[in-house]
Amino acid sequence: MRDKIIESILNNKEEFISGEELSKKLGISRAGVWKHIKILKQQGYNIESVNKRGYRLSEKPDDLLTYKNICHELDNEFVGSKIVHFDTIESTNDYAKTIANESQEGTIIISEEQTKGKGRLGRQWHSKASEGIWMSMILKPEIMPYKAPFITLIAGASIVSALNKLGVNTSIKWPNDIIINNKKVAGILTELSAEIERINYIVLGIGINVKIMEFPQEILDIATSLYKEEYKISRVDIVRSIISEFEKLYLDYIKNDSKEKTLEICRKHSVLIGKKIYVLQGDNKELVKCLDINDKGNLIVEDQNRSKREIMSGEVSIRGVKGYV
Ligand code: BTN
Repeated sequence: MRDKIIESILNNKEEFISGEELSKKLGISRAGVWKHIKILKQQGYNIESVNKRGYRLSEKPDDLLTYKNICHELDNEFVGSKIVHFDTIESTNDYAKTIANESQEGTIIISEEQTKGKGRLGRQWHSKASEGIWMSMILKPEIMPYKAPFITLIAGASIVSALNKLGVNTSIKWPNDIIINNKKVAGILTELSAEIERINYIVLGIGINVKIMEFPQEILDIATSLYKEEYKISRVDIVRSIISEFEKLYLDYIKNDSKEKTLEICRKHSVLIGKKIYVLQGDNKELVKCLDINDKGNLIVEDQNRSKREIMSGEVSIRGVKGYV
Protein backbone atom coordinates (compact mmCIF):
# COMPACT_ATOMS: atom_id res chain seq x y z
CA MET A 1 0.00 0.00 0.00
CA ARG A 2 2.80 2.41 0.90
CA ASP A 3 4.39 1.76 -2.51
CA LYS A 4 1.09 2.74 -4.14
CA ILE A 5 0.91 5.94 -2.10
CA ILE A 6 4.44 6.93 -3.10
CA GLU A 7 3.68 6.10 -6.74
CA SER A 8 0.55 8.29 -6.72
CA ILE A 9 2.48 11.13 -5.10
CA LEU A 10 5.37 10.80 -7.53
CA ASN A 11 3.02 10.64 -10.53
CA ASN A 12 1.49 13.92 -9.44
CA LYS A 13 4.92 15.48 -10.06
CA GLU A 14 5.37 18.77 -8.21
CA GLU A 15 1.61 19.11 -7.46
CA PHE A 16 -0.14 18.30 -4.19
CA ILE A 17 -2.46 15.29 -4.13
CA SER A 18 -5.28 15.52 -1.61
CA GLY A 19 -5.94 12.97 1.12
CA GLU A 20 -9.44 12.50 -0.33
CA GLU A 21 -8.13 11.73 -3.80
CA LEU A 22 -5.60 9.27 -2.40
CA SER A 23 -8.23 7.58 -0.26
CA LYS A 24 -10.60 7.17 -3.27
CA LYS A 25 -7.84 6.00 -5.56
CA LEU A 26 -6.51 3.40 -3.14
CA GLY A 27 -9.79 2.36 -1.53
CA ILE A 28 -8.75 3.14 2.04
CA SER A 29 -9.94 5.74 4.55
CA ARG A 30 -8.29 9.17 4.87
CA ALA A 31 -7.13 8.13 8.35
CA GLY A 32 -5.56 5.06 6.72
CA VAL A 33 -3.78 7.29 4.20
CA TRP A 34 -2.44 9.45 7.03
CA LYS A 35 -1.23 6.37 8.95
CA HIS A 36 0.80 5.22 5.93
CA ILE A 37 2.15 8.73 5.29
CA LYS A 38 3.39 8.87 8.90
CA ILE A 39 5.31 5.60 8.41
CA LEU A 40 6.73 6.78 5.07
CA LYS A 41 7.99 9.93 6.77
CA GLN A 42 9.66 7.82 9.47
CA GLN A 43 11.33 5.82 6.68
CA GLY A 44 12.89 9.01 5.39
CA TYR A 45 10.47 10.18 2.69
CA ASN A 46 10.30 13.92 2.79
CA ILE A 47 6.54 14.30 2.35
CA GLU A 48 5.00 17.73 2.88
CA SER A 49 1.43 17.65 4.23
CA VAL A 50 -0.42 20.92 3.90
CA ASN A 51 -3.91 21.52 5.23
CA LYS A 52 -6.62 21.59 2.48
CA ARG A 53 -4.03 20.85 -0.22
CA GLY A 54 -2.79 17.36 0.59
CA TYR A 55 0.56 15.68 0.15
CA ARG A 56 3.62 16.31 -1.96
CA LEU A 57 7.08 14.77 -2.06
CA SER A 58 9.68 17.51 -1.54
CA GLU A 59 12.62 15.34 -2.49
CA LYS A 60 13.34 11.66 -2.84
CA PRO A 61 15.21 10.26 0.15
CA ASP A 62 18.65 9.55 -1.15
CA ASP A 63 19.12 6.76 1.28
CA LEU A 64 16.40 4.39 0.22
CA LEU A 65 17.31 2.23 -2.75
CA THR A 66 13.76 1.10 -3.42
CA TYR A 67 12.12 0.27 -6.74
CA LYS A 68 10.00 3.42 -6.60
CA ASN A 69 12.97 5.72 -6.17
CA ILE A 70 15.23 3.99 -8.65
CA CYS A 71 12.87 3.16 -11.47
CA HIS A 72 10.56 6.16 -11.51
CA GLU A 73 10.40 7.29 -15.16
CA LEU A 74 13.41 5.16 -16.02
CA ASP A 75 13.21 4.05 -19.59
CA ASN A 76 14.65 0.52 -19.25
CA GLU A 77 13.50 -2.57 -21.11
CA PHE A 78 14.16 -5.16 -18.43
CA VAL A 79 17.06 -4.35 -16.09
CA GLY A 80 15.44 -3.28 -12.83
CA SER A 81 11.97 -4.44 -13.93
CA LYS A 82 11.84 -5.83 -10.40
CA ILE A 83 13.86 -4.63 -7.42
CA VAL A 84 13.86 -6.56 -4.16
CA HIS A 85 14.99 -4.24 -1.36
CA PHE A 86 16.26 -5.38 2.05
CA ASP A 87 17.36 -3.42 5.10
CA THR A 88 19.83 -6.14 5.93
CA ILE A 89 20.84 -9.48 4.46
CA GLU A 90 23.90 -11.75 4.57
CA SER A 91 24.83 -11.33 0.91
CA THR A 92 22.74 -10.08 -2.02
CA ASN A 93 24.62 -12.46 -4.32
CA ASP A 94 23.78 -15.45 -2.13
CA TYR A 95 20.14 -14.40 -1.89
CA ALA A 96 19.94 -13.81 -5.66
CA LYS A 97 21.14 -17.37 -6.24
CA THR A 98 18.31 -18.77 -4.12
CA ILE A 99 15.65 -17.04 -6.25
CA ALA A 100 17.43 -16.97 -9.61
CA ASN A 101 15.68 -19.96 -11.20
CA GLU A 102 12.22 -18.53 -10.62
CA SER A 103 13.12 -14.89 -11.27
CA GLN A 104 12.76 -12.89 -14.43
CA GLU A 105 15.90 -11.61 -16.10
CA GLY A 106 16.90 -8.16 -14.87
CA THR A 107 15.66 -8.65 -11.31
CA ILE A 108 17.84 -6.71 -8.88
CA ILE A 109 18.44 -7.43 -5.20
CA ILE A 110 19.61 -4.46 -3.13
CA SER A 111 20.33 -4.34 0.56
CA GLU A 112 21.15 -1.36 2.73
CA GLU A 113 23.54 -3.61 4.68
CA GLN A 114 25.23 -6.97 4.15
CA THR A 115 26.42 -8.97 7.14
CA LYS A 116 28.42 -11.47 5.05
CA GLY A 117 29.25 -9.49 1.92
CA LYS A 118 31.49 -11.48 -0.39
CA GLY A 119 34.41 -10.25 -2.46
CA ARG A 120 36.39 -12.11 -5.12
CA LEU A 121 38.58 -15.07 -4.22
CA GLY A 122 36.70 -15.76 -0.99
CA ARG A 123 37.46 -12.35 0.49
CA GLN A 124 35.10 -10.43 2.74
CA TRP A 125 33.36 -7.31 1.36
CA HIS A 126 32.67 -4.63 3.98
CA SER A 127 29.07 -3.50 3.46
CA LYS A 128 27.96 -1.13 6.20
CA ALA A 129 24.33 0.02 6.44
CA SER A 130 23.42 2.79 3.97
CA GLU A 131 27.05 3.63 3.26
CA GLY A 132 27.26 2.01 -0.11
CA ILE A 133 25.44 0.29 -2.94
CA TRP A 134 25.31 -3.45 -2.41
CA MET A 135 23.37 -5.00 -5.24
CA SER A 136 23.07 -8.11 -7.40
CA MET A 137 21.49 -8.51 -10.79
CA ILE A 138 20.01 -11.76 -12.10
CA LEU A 139 20.80 -12.33 -15.77
CA LYS A 140 19.80 -15.18 -18.08
CA PRO A 141 21.63 -14.59 -21.35
CA GLU A 142 21.16 -17.11 -24.14
CA ILE A 143 24.86 -17.39 -24.89
CA MET A 144 27.50 -20.07 -24.48
CA PRO A 145 28.99 -20.21 -20.96
CA TYR A 146 32.50 -19.35 -22.21
CA LYS A 147 31.14 -15.94 -23.21
CA ALA A 148 29.96 -15.15 -19.67
CA PRO A 149 33.18 -13.57 -18.29
CA PHE A 150 32.77 -10.67 -20.72
CA ILE A 151 29.70 -9.64 -18.72
CA THR A 152 32.06 -8.57 -15.90
CA LEU A 153 33.67 -6.17 -18.36
CA ILE A 154 30.24 -4.87 -19.40
CA ALA A 155 29.48 -4.22 -15.73
CA GLY A 156 32.81 -2.44 -15.23
CA ALA A 157 32.26 -0.32 -18.34
CA SER A 158 28.75 0.62 -17.23
CA ILE A 159 29.88 1.62 -13.73
CA VAL A 160 32.65 3.78 -15.18
CA SER A 161 30.33 5.41 -17.75
CA ALA A 162 27.65 5.98 -15.14
CA LEU A 163 30.04 7.55 -12.64
CA ASN A 164 31.82 9.59 -15.31
CA LYS A 165 28.44 10.94 -16.48
CA LEU A 166 27.78 11.99 -12.88
CA GLY A 167 31.08 13.89 -12.86
CA VAL A 168 33.30 11.30 -11.14
CA ASN A 169 36.55 10.52 -12.86
CA THR A 170 37.02 6.75 -12.53
CA SER A 171 39.06 4.07 -14.24
CA ILE A 172 39.03 0.27 -14.48
CA LYS A 173 41.60 -2.10 -13.08
CA TRP A 174 40.88 -5.06 -15.34
CA PRO A 175 38.72 -6.98 -14.96
CA ASN A 176 36.57 -6.01 -12.02
CA ASP A 177 37.84 -3.12 -9.89
CA ILE A 178 36.78 0.49 -10.28
CA ILE A 179 39.42 3.00 -9.27
CA ILE A 180 39.58 6.62 -8.13
CA ASN A 181 42.98 8.19 -7.39
CA ASN A 182 44.70 4.78 -7.40
CA LYS A 183 42.30 3.30 -4.84
CA LYS A 184 39.41 0.88 -5.22
CA VAL A 185 35.95 2.41 -4.96
CA ALA A 186 33.91 -0.47 -6.38
CA GLY A 187 34.17 -4.16 -7.18
CA ILE A 188 32.27 -6.72 -9.20
CA LEU A 189 31.63 -10.36 -8.30
CA THR A 190 30.17 -12.43 -11.13
CA GLU A 191 28.84 -15.87 -10.29
CA LEU A 192 27.70 -18.35 -12.91
CA SER A 193 25.41 -21.36 -12.89
CA ALA A 194 25.72 -23.25 -16.15
CA GLU A 195 25.64 -26.56 -17.96
CA ILE A 196 28.18 -27.35 -20.68
CA GLU A 197 26.30 -25.56 -23.42
CA ARG A 198 23.90 -23.27 -21.65
CA ILE A 199 23.76 -20.72 -18.89
CA ASN A 200 21.13 -21.20 -16.20
CA TYR A 201 21.77 -17.80 -14.68
CA ILE A 202 24.42 -15.27 -13.85
CA VAL A 203 24.43 -13.29 -10.62
CA LEU A 204 26.26 -10.04 -11.14
CA GLY A 205 27.19 -8.51 -7.79
CA ILE A 206 28.23 -4.88 -7.59
CA GLY A 207 29.59 -3.19 -4.48
CA ILE A 208 30.24 0.56 -4.48
CA ASN A 209 31.66 2.41 -1.49
CA VAL A 210 29.64 5.62 -1.38
CA LYS A 211 29.69 7.15 2.09
CA ILE A 212 32.26 5.04 3.96
CA MET A 213 34.80 7.34 5.63
CA GLU A 214 36.73 4.79 7.67
CA PHE A 215 38.02 1.49 6.33
CA PRO A 216 39.46 -1.42 8.31
CA GLN A 217 43.25 -1.36 8.73
CA GLU A 218 43.88 -4.19 6.26
CA ILE A 219 42.35 -2.29 3.31
CA LEU A 220 43.09 1.26 4.43
CA ASP A 221 45.72 1.81 1.74
CA ILE A 222 43.78 0.36 -1.15
CA ALA A 223 40.12 1.30 -0.55
CA THR A 224 38.26 4.55 -0.92
CA SER A 225 34.70 5.86 -1.23
CA LEU A 226 32.99 8.51 -3.32
CA TYR A 227 32.45 10.70 -0.25
CA LYS A 228 36.10 10.32 0.81
CA GLU A 229 37.08 11.57 -2.63
CA GLU A 230 34.69 14.53 -2.19
CA TYR A 231 32.02 13.24 -4.58
CA LYS A 232 28.75 13.62 -2.69
CA ILE A 233 26.39 11.95 -5.12
CA SER A 234 23.01 10.38 -4.47
CA ARG A 235 23.01 6.58 -4.35
CA VAL A 236 19.69 6.53 -6.22
CA ASP A 237 21.18 8.53 -9.11
CA ILE A 238 24.17 6.17 -9.27
CA VAL A 239 22.02 3.03 -9.41
CA ARG A 240 19.69 4.59 -12.03
CA SER A 241 22.62 5.54 -14.17
CA ILE A 242 24.36 2.15 -13.86
CA ILE A 243 21.29 0.14 -14.79
CA SER A 244 20.57 2.24 -17.83
CA GLU A 245 24.23 2.14 -19.03
CA PHE A 246 24.39 -1.59 -18.29
CA GLU A 247 21.24 -2.44 -20.25
CA LYS A 248 22.53 -0.75 -23.41
CA LEU A 249 25.93 -2.49 -23.37
CA TYR A 250 24.44 -5.83 -22.31
CA LEU A 251 21.82 -5.86 -25.07
CA ASP A 252 24.47 -4.95 -27.61
CA TYR A 253 26.45 -8.00 -26.54
CA ILE A 254 23.60 -10.47 -26.19
CA LYS A 255 21.49 -9.45 -29.19
CA ASN A 256 24.09 -8.12 -31.65
CA ASP A 257 27.18 -9.93 -30.41
CA SER A 258 28.80 -6.49 -30.28
CA LYS A 259 31.54 -5.81 -27.74
CA GLU A 260 32.92 -2.67 -29.31
CA LYS A 261 31.51 -0.02 -27.01
CA THR A 262 32.40 -1.98 -23.87
CA LEU A 263 35.96 -2.60 -25.09
CA GLU A 264 36.35 1.04 -26.07
CA ILE A 265 35.37 2.13 -22.53
CA CYS A 266 37.54 -0.54 -20.84
CA ARG A 267 40.60 0.38 -22.94
CA LYS A 268 40.11 4.13 -22.68
CA HIS A 269 39.75 4.03 -18.89
CA SER A 270 42.20 1.22 -18.14
CA VAL A 271 44.73 1.83 -15.34
CA LEU A 272 46.84 -1.12 -16.49
CA ILE A 273 47.50 -0.65 -20.21
CA GLY A 274 51.06 0.54 -20.82
CA LYS A 275 52.19 -0.24 -17.26
CA LYS A 276 54.43 -2.85 -15.63
CA ILE A 277 52.33 -5.05 -13.37
CA TYR A 278 52.60 -8.16 -11.27
CA VAL A 279 50.40 -11.10 -12.22
CA LEU A 280 49.64 -13.22 -9.16
CA GLN A 281 48.45 -16.80 -9.48
CA GLY A 282 48.61 -19.04 -6.43
CA ASP A 283 52.15 -18.60 -5.06
CA ASN A 284 53.49 -17.28 -8.39
CA LYS A 285 54.26 -13.62 -8.92
CA GLU A 286 55.46 -12.52 -12.34
CA LEU A 287 56.45 -9.08 -13.55
CA VAL A 288 55.03 -8.31 -17.01
CA LYS A 289 54.11 -5.32 -19.13
CA CYS A 290 50.43 -4.85 -19.87
CA LEU A 291 49.92 -4.11 -23.57
CA ASP A 292 46.20 -4.20 -24.28
CA ILE A 293 42.80 -5.77 -23.74
CA ASN A 294 42.00 -7.96 -26.74
CA ASP A 295 38.67 -8.42 -28.51
CA LYS A 296 37.77 -11.32 -26.25
CA GLY A 297 38.19 -9.03 -23.23
CA ASN A 298 41.40 -10.76 -22.08
CA LEU A 299 44.54 -8.96 -20.98
CA ILE A 300 47.54 -9.05 -23.34
CA VAL A 301 50.86 -8.96 -21.51
CA GLU A 302 54.52 -9.20 -22.46
CA ASP A 303 56.82 -11.14 -20.16
CA GLN A 304 60.51 -10.55 -19.33
CA ASN A 305 61.54 -12.57 -22.44
CA ARG A 306 59.39 -10.29 -24.59
CA SER A 307 56.94 -13.05 -25.43
CA LYS A 308 53.30 -12.09 -25.46
CA ARG A 309 50.43 -13.95 -23.92
CA GLU A 310 46.77 -13.63 -23.07
CA ILE A 311 45.44 -13.66 -19.51
CA MET A 312 41.83 -14.55 -18.81
CA SER A 313 39.85 -12.91 -16.03
CA GLY A 314 39.14 -15.17 -13.09
CA GLU A 315 42.57 -16.82 -13.34
CA VAL A 316 44.67 -14.20 -11.62
CA SER A 317 45.05 -11.13 -9.43
CA ILE A 318 46.90 -8.07 -10.63
CA ARG A 319 49.10 -5.75 -8.56
CA GLY A 320 50.94 -2.59 -9.55
CA VAL A 321 54.71 -2.36 -9.18
CA LYS A 322 54.41 0.24 -6.42
CA GLY A 323 51.32 -1.11 -4.73
CA TYR A 324 47.69 -1.68 -5.58
CA VAL A 325 47.69 -0.19 -9.13
C1 BTN B 1 35.46 -7.69 -5.29
O1 BTN B 1 35.97 -6.68 -5.76
O2 BTN B 1 36.13 -8.48 -4.62
C2 BTN B 1 34.01 -7.95 -5.56
C3 BTN B 1 33.13 -7.27 -4.57
C4 BTN B 1 31.66 -7.49 -4.83
C5 BTN B 1 30.79 -7.01 -3.68
C6 BTN B 1 29.34 -7.09 -4.01
S1 BTN B 1 28.34 -6.21 -2.86
C7 BTN B 1 26.89 -6.89 -3.56
C8 BTN B 1 27.20 -8.32 -3.92
N1 BTN B 1 26.92 -9.21 -2.80
C9 BTN B 1 28.04 -9.77 -2.31
O3 BTN B 1 28.09 -10.54 -1.34
N2 BTN B 1 29.10 -9.33 -3.00
C10 BTN B 1 28.72 -8.47 -4.09
